[in-house]
Amino acid sequence: MGSVEDGCTVYYDGACPLCSREIAHYQARAGADSIRWVDVARADAGALGADLERDAALARLHVRDADGRLVSGAAAFAAIWRRLPAYAWLARLASPPPVQWLLEGGYRGFLAVRRLWRPAPSALPAAVLADLRTDHAGETGAVEIYRGILAVTRDPALRAFATRHLATERSHLAQIEVWLAPVHRSRLLFLWRPAGWLTGALPALCGPRAVYATIHAVETFVDRHYAGQVARLDGQPNLAPLRDLLEGCRRDEVAHRDEAAPSAAAAPGAVLRTWARVVGAGSAAAVRVCRRL
Ligand SMILES: [Fe+2]
Ligand SMILES: [Fe+2]
Repeated sequence: MGSVEDGCTVYYDGACPLCSREIAHYQARAGADSIRWVDVARADAGALGADLERDAALARLHVRDADGRLVSGAAAFAAIWRRLPAYAWLARLASPPPVQWLLEGGYRGFLAVRRLWRPAPSALPAAVLADLRTDHAGETGAVEIYRGILAVTRDPALRAFATRHLATERSHLAQIEVWLAPVHRSRLLFLWRPAGWLTGALPALCGPRAVYATIHAVETFVDRHYAGQVARLDGQPNLAPLRDLLEGCRRDEVAHRDEAAPSAAAAPGAVLRTWARVVGAGSAAAVRVCRRL
Protein backbone atom coordinates (compact mmCIF):
# COMPACT_ATOMS: atom_id res chain seq x y z
CA MET A 1 0.00 0.00 0.00
CA GLY A 2 1.16 3.51 -0.75
CA SER A 3 1.09 6.62 1.37
CA VAL A 4 -1.09 9.73 1.07
CA GLU A 5 1.90 11.37 -0.62
CA ASP A 6 1.28 9.03 -3.56
CA GLY A 7 -1.57 11.42 -4.28
CA CYS A 8 -4.63 9.17 -4.62
CA THR A 9 -7.63 11.38 -3.83
CA VAL A 10 -11.30 10.40 -3.56
CA TYR A 11 -13.98 13.08 -4.15
CA TYR A 12 -17.37 12.09 -2.74
CA ASP A 13 -20.72 13.73 -1.94
CA GLY A 14 -20.78 13.90 1.86
CA ALA A 15 -24.26 15.49 1.76
CA CYS A 16 -25.67 12.23 0.35
CA PRO A 17 -26.41 9.85 3.26
CA LEU A 18 -25.90 6.71 1.12
CA CYS A 19 -22.60 7.88 -0.40
CA SER A 20 -21.19 9.08 2.91
CA ARG A 21 -22.16 5.78 4.59
CA GLU A 22 -20.34 3.80 1.90
CA ILE A 23 -17.27 6.05 2.11
CA ALA A 24 -17.28 5.81 5.93
CA HIS A 25 -17.19 2.02 5.51
CA TYR A 26 -14.09 2.26 3.27
CA GLN A 27 -12.47 4.82 5.58
CA ALA A 28 -12.63 2.32 8.44
CA ARG A 29 -10.72 -0.36 6.44
CA ALA A 30 -6.96 -0.97 6.54
CA GLY A 31 -5.21 1.01 3.81
CA ALA A 32 -7.70 3.91 3.99
CA ASP A 33 -5.02 6.20 5.40
CA SER A 34 -3.18 6.00 2.06
CA ILE A 35 -6.11 7.83 0.46
CA ARG A 36 -6.99 11.52 0.71
CA TRP A 37 -10.77 11.81 1.20
CA VAL A 38 -12.42 15.02 0.00
CA ASP A 39 -16.05 15.66 0.96
CA VAL A 40 -17.12 17.73 -2.04
CA ALA A 41 -20.18 19.14 -0.25
CA ARG A 42 -17.96 20.77 2.38
CA ALA A 43 -14.64 21.36 0.58
CA ASP A 44 -13.44 24.68 -0.84
CA ALA A 45 -13.44 24.84 -4.64
CA GLY A 46 -9.61 24.85 -4.53
CA ALA A 47 -9.61 21.36 -2.99
CA LEU A 48 -11.09 19.86 -6.17
CA GLY A 49 -8.49 20.97 -8.73
CA ALA A 50 -8.93 23.10 -11.84
CA ASP A 51 -10.29 20.23 -13.95
CA LEU A 52 -13.11 19.17 -11.60
CA GLU A 53 -16.24 21.31 -11.17
CA ARG A 54 -18.18 20.96 -7.91
CA ASP A 55 -21.40 20.03 -9.76
CA ALA A 56 -19.60 17.23 -11.66
CA ALA A 57 -17.95 15.99 -8.47
CA LEU A 58 -21.33 15.91 -6.67
CA ALA A 59 -22.98 14.08 -9.56
CA ARG A 60 -20.53 11.12 -9.62
CA LEU A 61 -17.79 9.61 -7.48
CA HIS A 62 -14.34 10.73 -8.73
CA VAL A 63 -10.81 9.51 -7.95
CA ARG A 64 -7.58 11.23 -8.92
CA ASP A 65 -4.60 8.90 -9.16
CA ALA A 66 -0.97 9.67 -8.39
CA ASP A 67 -0.40 11.05 -11.91
CA GLY A 68 -3.29 13.49 -11.57
CA ARG A 69 -5.52 11.44 -13.89
CA LEU A 70 -9.23 11.62 -12.99
CA VAL A 71 -11.55 8.63 -13.23
CA SER A 72 -15.20 8.45 -12.16
CA GLY A 73 -18.03 6.02 -11.55
CA ALA A 74 -17.18 2.30 -11.65
CA ALA A 75 -13.52 3.04 -12.46
CA ALA A 76 -13.34 5.23 -9.35
CA PHE A 77 -14.71 2.43 -7.14
CA ALA A 78 -12.16 0.03 -8.65
CA ALA A 79 -9.40 2.55 -7.86
CA ILE A 80 -10.53 2.66 -4.20
CA TRP A 81 -10.75 -1.15 -3.97
CA ARG A 82 -7.20 -1.53 -5.35
CA ARG A 83 -5.91 0.50 -2.38
CA LEU A 84 -7.77 -1.46 0.30
CA PRO A 85 -6.37 -4.98 0.97
CA ALA A 86 -9.82 -6.22 2.07
CA TYR A 87 -11.18 -5.33 -1.38
CA ALA A 88 -8.21 -6.34 -3.55
CA TRP A 89 -10.17 -9.41 -4.73
CA LEU A 90 -13.05 -7.17 -5.86
CA ALA A 91 -10.66 -4.86 -7.70
CA ARG A 92 -9.25 -7.89 -9.58
CA LEU A 93 -12.75 -9.17 -10.34
CA ALA A 94 -13.77 -5.73 -11.62
CA SER A 95 -10.78 -5.17 -13.88
CA PRO A 96 -11.94 -6.88 -17.15
CA PRO A 97 -13.73 -4.27 -19.32
CA PRO A 98 -17.05 -6.18 -19.54
CA VAL A 99 -17.26 -6.27 -15.73
CA GLN A 100 -16.42 -2.54 -15.63
CA TRP A 101 -19.28 -1.86 -18.07
CA LEU A 102 -21.70 -3.85 -15.92
CA LEU A 103 -20.58 -2.04 -12.78
CA GLU A 104 -20.89 1.33 -14.52
CA GLY A 105 -24.46 0.41 -15.57
CA GLY A 106 -25.26 -0.53 -11.98
CA TYR A 107 -23.77 2.73 -10.70
CA ARG A 108 -25.81 4.78 -13.19
CA GLY A 109 -28.91 2.94 -12.00
CA PHE A 110 -28.05 3.89 -8.42
CA LEU A 111 -27.62 7.54 -9.46
CA ALA A 112 -31.04 7.49 -11.14
CA VAL A 113 -32.64 6.07 -7.97
CA ARG A 114 -30.74 8.60 -5.82
CA ARG A 115 -32.36 11.40 -7.82
CA LEU A 116 -35.80 10.10 -6.78
CA TRP A 117 -35.28 10.71 -3.10
CA ARG A 118 -32.90 13.63 -3.48
CA PRO A 119 -34.66 15.94 -5.93
CA ALA A 120 -32.54 17.91 -8.36
CA PRO A 121 -32.30 21.55 -7.18
CA SER A 122 -34.28 22.71 -10.21
CA ALA A 123 -37.16 20.40 -9.14
CA LEU A 124 -37.61 22.07 -5.74
CA PRO A 125 -40.89 23.94 -5.13
CA ALA A 126 -40.67 27.72 -5.52
CA ALA A 127 -41.36 28.29 -1.80
CA VAL A 128 -38.45 26.00 -0.85
CA LEU A 129 -36.18 27.76 -3.34
CA ALA A 130 -37.17 31.12 -1.81
CA ASP A 131 -36.36 29.80 1.69
CA LEU A 132 -33.05 28.39 0.47
CA ARG A 133 -32.18 31.72 -1.16
CA THR A 134 -32.54 33.40 2.24
CA ASP A 135 -30.39 30.66 3.86
CA HIS A 136 -27.71 31.01 1.20
CA ALA A 137 -27.62 34.80 1.56
CA GLY A 138 -27.58 34.44 5.37
CA GLU A 139 -24.71 31.95 5.40
CA THR A 140 -22.81 34.16 2.92
CA GLY A 141 -23.31 37.03 5.37
CA ALA A 142 -22.31 34.82 8.32
CA VAL A 143 -18.99 33.92 6.66
CA GLU A 144 -18.37 37.65 6.12
CA ILE A 145 -19.30 38.54 9.72
CA TYR A 146 -16.47 36.34 11.00
CA ARG A 147 -14.07 37.54 8.31
CA GLY A 148 -14.88 41.11 9.41
CA ILE A 149 -14.24 40.24 13.06
CA LEU A 150 -10.92 38.56 12.20
CA ALA A 151 -9.84 41.56 10.10
CA VAL A 152 -10.14 43.84 13.13
CA THR A 153 -9.69 42.07 16.45
CA ARG A 154 -6.38 41.13 18.08
CA ASP A 155 -8.06 39.54 21.12
CA PRO A 156 -6.81 35.90 21.18
CA ALA A 157 -9.99 34.40 22.68
CA LEU A 158 -12.21 36.26 20.21
CA ARG A 159 -9.96 35.26 17.29
CA ALA A 160 -10.23 31.60 18.32
CA PHE A 161 -14.05 31.95 18.66
CA ALA A 162 -14.33 33.62 15.23
CA THR A 163 -11.97 31.15 13.52
CA ARG A 164 -13.99 28.16 14.77
CA HIS A 165 -17.31 29.72 13.83
CA LEU A 166 -15.99 30.79 10.41
CA ALA A 167 -15.20 27.14 9.60
CA THR A 168 -18.75 26.10 10.57
CA GLU A 169 -20.37 28.88 8.52
CA ARG A 170 -18.24 27.98 5.48
CA SER A 171 -19.41 24.39 5.81
CA HIS A 172 -23.08 25.55 6.06
CA LEU A 173 -22.62 27.69 2.95
CA ALA A 174 -21.01 24.86 0.96
CA GLN A 175 -23.82 22.45 1.93
CA ILE A 176 -26.56 24.92 0.97
CA GLU A 177 -24.81 25.61 -2.35
CA VAL A 178 -25.26 21.92 -3.13
CA TRP A 179 -29.03 22.46 -2.99
CA LEU A 180 -29.28 25.91 -4.52
CA ALA A 181 -28.00 26.36 -8.08
CA PRO A 182 -26.33 29.72 -8.83
CA VAL A 183 -29.32 30.79 -10.93
CA HIS A 184 -31.56 30.70 -7.82
CA ARG A 185 -29.22 32.60 -5.50
CA SER A 186 -29.87 36.16 -4.34
CA ARG A 187 -28.99 38.80 -6.91
CA LEU A 188 -27.99 41.08 -4.04
CA LEU A 189 -25.05 39.03 -2.74
CA PHE A 190 -22.83 42.00 -3.63
CA LEU A 191 -24.73 43.88 -0.87
CA TRP A 192 -25.02 41.04 1.67
CA ARG A 193 -21.26 40.44 1.69
CA PRO A 194 -20.19 43.98 2.77
CA ALA A 195 -23.22 44.20 5.10
CA GLY A 196 -22.09 40.98 6.81
CA TRP A 197 -18.46 42.08 6.96
CA LEU A 198 -19.44 45.39 8.62
CA THR A 199 -21.76 43.54 11.04
CA GLY A 200 -18.63 41.77 12.30
CA ALA A 201 -15.99 44.48 11.88
CA LEU A 202 -17.88 47.42 13.46
CA PRO A 203 -18.52 45.77 16.85
CA ALA A 204 -15.01 44.29 16.75
CA LEU A 205 -13.71 47.89 16.72
CA CYS A 206 -15.59 48.42 20.00
CA GLY A 207 -14.29 45.26 21.69
CA PRO A 208 -15.12 41.59 22.29
CA ARG A 209 -18.27 42.24 24.37
CA ALA A 210 -19.88 44.09 21.44
CA VAL A 211 -19.00 41.19 19.12
CA TYR A 212 -20.50 38.55 21.43
CA ALA A 213 -23.68 40.66 21.77
CA THR A 214 -23.85 40.90 17.96
CA ILE A 215 -23.39 37.14 17.47
CA HIS A 216 -25.99 36.47 20.15
CA ALA A 217 -28.49 38.73 18.35
CA VAL A 218 -27.77 37.25 14.91
CA GLU A 219 -27.94 33.62 16.01
CA THR A 220 -31.12 34.19 18.04
CA PHE A 221 -32.68 35.35 14.79
CA VAL A 222 -31.15 32.53 12.69
CA ASP A 223 -32.35 29.84 15.13
CA ARG A 224 -35.97 30.99 14.69
CA HIS A 225 -35.47 31.35 10.93
CA TYR A 226 -34.23 27.77 10.49
CA ALA A 227 -36.78 26.36 12.98
CA GLY A 228 -39.65 27.76 10.89
CA GLN A 229 -38.21 26.28 7.74
CA VAL A 230 -37.60 22.87 9.32
CA ALA A 231 -41.23 22.84 10.53
CA ARG A 232 -42.43 23.60 6.99
CA LEU A 233 -40.35 20.68 5.64
CA ASP A 234 -41.51 18.23 8.31
CA GLY A 235 -44.45 16.99 6.25
CA GLN A 236 -42.44 16.47 3.04
CA PRO A 237 -40.64 13.10 3.20
CA ASN A 238 -39.00 13.58 -0.22
CA LEU A 239 -37.20 16.62 1.22
CA ALA A 240 -36.06 14.86 4.41
CA PRO A 241 -32.34 15.17 3.51
CA LEU A 242 -32.77 18.95 3.14
CA ARG A 243 -34.73 19.13 6.39
CA ASP A 244 -31.93 17.24 8.18
CA LEU A 245 -29.30 19.56 6.70
CA LEU A 246 -31.16 22.67 7.90
CA GLU A 247 -31.80 21.15 11.33
CA GLY A 248 -28.05 20.44 11.59
CA CYS A 249 -27.31 24.06 10.68
CA ARG A 250 -29.88 25.25 13.24
CA ARG A 251 -28.22 23.23 16.00
CA ASP A 252 -24.82 24.74 15.09
CA GLU A 253 -26.31 28.25 15.21
CA VAL A 254 -27.82 27.56 18.63
CA ALA A 255 -24.39 26.41 19.84
CA HIS A 256 -22.90 29.66 18.45
CA ARG A 257 -25.60 31.69 20.24
CA ASP A 258 -25.08 29.87 23.53
CA GLU A 259 -21.31 30.24 23.30
CA ALA A 260 -21.72 34.01 22.91
CA ALA A 261 -24.45 34.31 25.57
CA PRO A 262 -22.38 34.66 28.79
CA SER A 263 -20.25 37.49 27.40
CA ALA A 264 -23.22 39.11 25.66
CA ALA A 265 -25.26 39.10 28.86
CA ALA A 266 -22.49 40.70 30.94
CA ALA A 267 -24.26 44.00 31.64
CA PRO A 268 -24.99 45.24 28.11
CA GLY A 269 -25.31 49.02 27.86
CA ALA A 270 -28.10 50.89 26.14
CA VAL A 271 -25.98 51.37 23.00
CA LEU A 272 -25.28 47.63 22.71
CA ARG A 273 -28.93 46.75 23.30
CA THR A 274 -29.94 49.15 20.53
CA TRP A 275 -27.25 47.74 18.20
CA ALA A 276 -28.46 44.18 18.88
CA ARG A 277 -32.02 45.23 18.00
CA VAL A 278 -30.77 46.88 14.79
CA VAL A 279 -28.90 43.68 13.85
CA GLY A 280 -31.99 41.51 14.49
CA ALA A 281 -34.28 43.85 12.53
CA GLY A 282 -31.71 44.13 9.72
CA SER A 283 -31.51 40.32 9.45
CA ALA A 284 -35.31 40.05 9.27
CA ALA A 285 -35.47 42.75 6.58
CA ALA A 286 -32.72 41.06 4.55
CA VAL A 287 -34.65 37.76 4.67
CA ARG A 288 -37.80 39.46 3.36
CA VAL A 289 -35.86 40.99 0.46
CA CYS A 290 -34.06 37.69 -0.31
CA ARG A 291 -37.32 35.82 -0.77
CA ARG A 292 -37.81 37.91 -3.93
CA LEU A 293 -34.32 38.95 -5.06
FE1 LIG B 1 -24.56 29.21 9.60
FE1 LIG C 1 -23.70 30.62 13.02
